[in-house]
Amino acid sequence: MEESHRLASFDHDILFGSAGQILANYLDQHPEKNPVLIADENTLKYCWPMLLSSNERLNQAKIIQIKSGEENKNIEGCKEVWESLVNLKISRNDIIINLGGGVVTDLGGFVASTFKRGVPFIQIPTSLLAMVDASIGGKVGVDFVGLKNVIGSFSTPELVIIDVHFLKSLPELQMKCGFAEVLKHGAILDNAYWQEATKSSCLDLEHIKSLVFRSVELKNRLVLTDFEDVKDRKKLNFGHTIGHAIETHYLNSSTVLLHGEAVAIGMIAEAWIGKETGITSEACFKRLTKTVLKTYKIPNIGRETHDALLEIMRNDKKNMGSTINFTFLKEMGVSVINQTASEIQIREALNFLNTIATG
Ligand code: GLY
Repeated sequence: MEESHRLASFDHDILFGSAGQILANYLDQHPEKNPVLIADENTLKYCWPMLLSSNERLNQAKIIQIKSGEENKNIEGCKEVWESLVNLKISRNDIIINLGGGVVTDLGGFVASTFKRGVPFIQIPTSLLAMVDASIGGKVGVDFVGLKNVIGSFSTPELVIIDVHFLKSLPELQMKCGFAEVLKHGAILDNAYWQEATKSSCLDLEHIKSLVFRSVELKNRLVLTDFEDVKDRKKLNFGHTIGHAIETHYLNSSTVLLHGEAVAIGMIAEAWIGKETGITSEACFKRLTKTVLKTYKIPNIGRETHDALLEIMRNDKKNMGSTINFTFLKEMGVSVINQTASEIQIREALNFLNTIATG
């Protein structure tokens, strides 16, 4: 990855390099803003100490701790943070620093953008998933009534700071989770990048670090041309229609299945439908499936859950009217938005998953 690099996003910069140094520069340039940290128990313990020595003012930061885990990314979690912001007398002159994975950046960004009609915030993603996806593009929000990210807004931060040193302390499962989005970027936009990403294991830290900049660059390009997600940004939805349904279903059960794992499974199912409808080439489907299966387990999703999964898909915020909306691959690196599939085809794709279930 390129150190000290900058990408211009919609109305803010994405800066790559030492988070401590970049944050220190920001605080020096904004002496009037008091820092307020939002972090979870893990990032407070492992990531915050990495920043503290970089600027004296960080030692005076007010700290709000939230609970890690997608099951806590909800309105209750927001209420607790809003209450803390009231108690701490935070104003629009202050600066909220969201330090964490997707739960922190999504919830923290949403809380910041709604408190007193908007307190400026900085996103410092610490997981691979948050670096290459959640913190990029100004989508913030929380889950509601069992639906993923259904309450939220487009609200851009002051800055996104990407420091790949945080990945050192990231558990293997979290690395796999973020890698699904890396694979997706190659699959939908760039065959050469797909080849590069699949050259080595997602548990090879140096390899992963070398991919972050390009993934962010690819996503940011879509955000710049279609911030409001009505055209090409929808390419990022590949794997997410079926993936979100599977993730949501497991969120309400005792089995843990993380977002990236669900997206990986969703990519296979959606490539299968694409192949059946003649949009995705057979070679592309095979390549994708072989690669995904190397890293991810496919759970046995019983037929009895297919109705529930379809009901979640019917409620997907990506739909237009009553049809379920998909992005399909044509070839590796080439994708097409606004595709549909019949419920029969979706059920067949879920059945196909069961034929390759591994765990
Ligand atoms: N995660 C998809 C998007 O930002 O549009």
